Amino acid sequence: MILQRDNIPNLDQISSQMGELVGAETTEEFRKFIAYYQQCQAGANEIGTKLDNLDSEYQMRDNHNPIHHMETRMKAPASLFKKLDKKQLPKTFDSIHDHILDVAGIRVITNYLSDIDTVADALTSQSDITVLKRKDYINHPKPSGYRSLHLVVSVPVFRTDGPVDTPVEIQLRTVGMDMWASLEHKLRYKTDVDPDKVVKYGDQLRGYAKELNGIETNLQTIFKKLQD
Ligand code: GTP
Ligand code: MG
Repeated sequence: MILQRDNIPNLDQISSQMGELVGAETTEEFRKFIAYYQQCQAGANEIGTKLDNLDSEYQMRDNHNPIHHMETRMKAPASLFKKLDKKQLPKTFDSIHDHILDVAGIRVITNYLSDIDTVADALTSQSDITVLKRKDYINHPKPSGYRSLHLVVSVPVFRTDGPVDTPVEIQLRTVGMDMWASLEHKLRYKTDVDPDKVVKYGDQLRGYAKELNGIETNLQTIFKKLQD
């Protein structure tokens, strides 16, 4: 099951956020951006289909679905420009194309811890997939306590004038990691005005992430025993 996290911006919404793009008044830059945006979306669709197919294969073969569900999102143009600002890059199409690897993102929520590697390995060993970036926040959690496996892969998208390699960001995490990340994100967002308020609960939040990890490890042990 693939859920659309936010509505994909339509042409009007994209246009209204494009004022910041250097050269947006020239149709050429604008057209390049729109074409690339659609290409990235197509890349995420390709990855989603690959993951769905792998999940079905595991279901048939092992009677177990590694994937609980997936969520995709396209980064809104306004967020792309914000990110360029943060990276101190010029707001040009080339900057987006060359430096932002998460225009399209897909989040894969797995049932068990070991499913993360199962899915990641099966996907990245496919002959048309290249891993561009890998960050293992599971074996090396972030200071906040955040855990997930982050990949950026390149997948060919077949366009009218041929195939083009397209980056897609993939975040893989268990149901427990997703629960923690979603709620922690909400806490942070709610207390946006005063970051100190969240810092105060840092130890507690890190502790919960660890506890959830313990629970998920134990649940997986039970699952393995039942399978044998
Ligand atoms: P950019 O993607 O370029 O910003 O840098 P990056 O890839 O180094 O960023 P990172 O690997 O930290 O991943 C960023 C994404 O991971 C965010 O958009 C969140 O979805 C998620 N994330 C990272 N850290 C946290 C955290 O502490 N809490 C929560 N809830 N999510 C996090
Ligand atoms: Mg990112």
